[in-house]
Amino acid sequence: MTHSGEHPAHGGDLAYATRRFGTPTGGWQDLSTGISPWAYPVGEVPAQVWRQLPVDQSGLIRSAAAYYGADPAHILPVPGSQFALARLPALLESASVALPRPGYEEHARHWLAGGHTPIFYRGLAELREAAEAGRVCHAVVINPNNPTGERVAARELLALSQSLPGILLVDEAFADLWPSLSVAAAVSSNPRLYVLRSVGKFFGLAGVRLGFLLGSGSAVAKLHSGMDPWAVNTPALWVGERALADRHWQISQRQRISEAAQALSQLLANCVPESVECANSGLFVTLQGDRPYLQALFTKLGHGGIFSRWCYSAANTEPAWLRLGLPEDKGRRLTEVLCD
Ligand SMILES: Cc1ncc(COP(=O)(O)O)c(C=O)c1O
Repeated sequence: MTHSGEHPAHGGDLAYATRRFGTPTGGWQDLSTGISPWAYPVGEVPAQVWRQLPVDQSGLIRSAAAYYGADPAHILPVPGSQFALARLPALLESASVALPRPGYEEHARHWLAGGHTPIFYRGLAELREAAEAGRVCHAVVINPNNPTGERVAARELLALSQSLPGILLVDEAFADLWPSLSVAAAVSSNPRLYVLRSVGKFFGLAGVRLGFLLGSGSAVAKLHSGMDPWAVNTPALWVGERALADRHWQISQRQRISEAAQALSQLLANCVPESVECANSGLFVTLQGDRPYLQALFTKLGHGGIFSRWCYSAANTEPAWLRLGLPEDKGRRLTEVLCD
């Protein structure tokens, strides 16, 4: 896929970075996504995995049920959580929907395309207020939020769901570092609660395209019935089953990511002015506030061969933010560019 244009089409749009800054000596250090730079070691894939049609999902679903702590009957494998978040709104009757701003913009795009009326909220307190006042039917919570890193406790989400007449969709694409945040176990007893999980971020396997929609409500069956029977391919089933069951690797991955995020956060906090807030979200660190400063930092990093994710509202109605994923090199290159 190639894109031309003024703005990156998505995190990881290195074609945009090259158009904007030229090709850096030594290549790009891409910190524009929240994908772990340490991927699950796939190893050698048996030949029949490439040959066989993906008929049997039971092994993957078993691993996913144990990993997410959810009932296997309520787990639907999908080719990336994006697949489900893009289709779910069209399966629900048009209504008002509360969406986080800032938040992963793909949610807003698809709820709008599905004929719903978006109502944007900033932080849980605003969402709770809108729900309690009866101003919203459905709600989306990204937990932790991308890009702000706001985390909401599971019990708060469960209480929120009770105050909504419609569904609560909790996007847990970045939740693997905090298993206790997850509401996946609660979907079986609450048919208006849906959860999205991704194998792309924490496991560093975004290219495999594997994720899950968890839920006991009718939207899961509707999504399933509209899916191609081979939508999740055999290599994805094979690697997903192993990665989700590999507790040893998960423990060291959690440790590796927490240390890298802590170091990145410290490095950035030491060099940004007081007008900029620094939030550590595990798989990325987000700076928010002073727009000219952040814009200049994005440009400086770009010229130094480091691609970050930069966003601001043209009308200046929202705080600008700059998001950096975890560097693989313990921040060596970032330190060089920042100290330059
Ligand atoms: C918050 C959030 N949810 C879901 C996705 C989709 O991820 P995937 O389709 O790789 O599971 C993304 C991708 O960046 C994201 O940031």
